[in-house]
Amino acid sequence: MTGALRGVVALDGPSGTGKTTVARKLAGRLSARYLDTGAMYRVVTLAVLRAGIDLADEHAVGALAHDVDFSLGTDPERPDVRLAGEDVAAEIRGPEVTGAVSPVSAVPQVREVLVARQRRMIADAVEGDGGIVVEGRDIGTTVAPDAPLKVYLTASAEVRAARRNTQDSAAGRASSVESARESVERRDRIDSTRAASPLRAAGDAVQVDTSELTIDQVIVALAELARGRGLLGDCPAEPAAAEAGVSR
Ligand code: DC
Repeated sequence: MTGALRGVVALDGPSGTGKTTVARKLAGRLSARYLDTGAMYRVVTLAVLRAGIDLADEHAVGALAHDVDFSLGTDPERPDVRLAGEDVAAEIRGPEVTGAVSPVSAVPQVREVLVARQRRMIADAVEGDGGIVVEGRDIGTTVAPDAPLKVYLTASAEVRAARRNTQDSAAGRASSVESARESVERRDRIDSTRAASPLRAAGDAVQVDTSELTIDQVIVALAELARGRGLLGDCPAEPAAAEAGVSR
């Protein structure tokens, strides 16, 4: 049995750790909202590309982030992403955006605008005892440093590349394990070495290595962590939690 989430679960980690799938399913299971902050950086990147702005022109990229008209849904069943009203959920996962998103997300002004918006969305979701699962790279360190549960997902580079390759192939995008590995490693490098809130685990985050776990095992483990922190009310433990081998 699983109760409804109250408060914020911050879920960080590099790409290919299963973060997006886990966050969305966990939010659905805990009757919570879901915020994919990576989608925000992606939609701004799409707007930058469509405007023909040079990625190296930080000033122009930052100014566009201020003005861009986008919306992001927080319903885990239907996480809409719109740019000026147009549904861009598929396009933001394509190779053009994936190739350009790390430099765009390294621009401090872009982060400032998006982090402020993320904090407003989180505050709205938790108002009146609601809950939200927020996924990204800097949620536990910067966006929601007071989150009562912070989780940092990891997985080996091989596993992450294989997962990304499977996802890309399933979505009909050209891919190979080698190209997926290169892309994953390149983004890790940029995301973790940038000056503005680099990718890193918060000191008080629970680290979960997902290399050998199924998505369902990770979800059960995280729901159990949330229960242990008192974020699900008086809900009894999941019998399957011990199997996932994650402790508090
Ligand atoms: O999770 P994702 O692959 O959709 O994220 C896309 C990019 O956005 C990622 O390469 C780094 C950036 N990002 C970020 O800098 N901070 C976040 N909170 C989320 C994503």
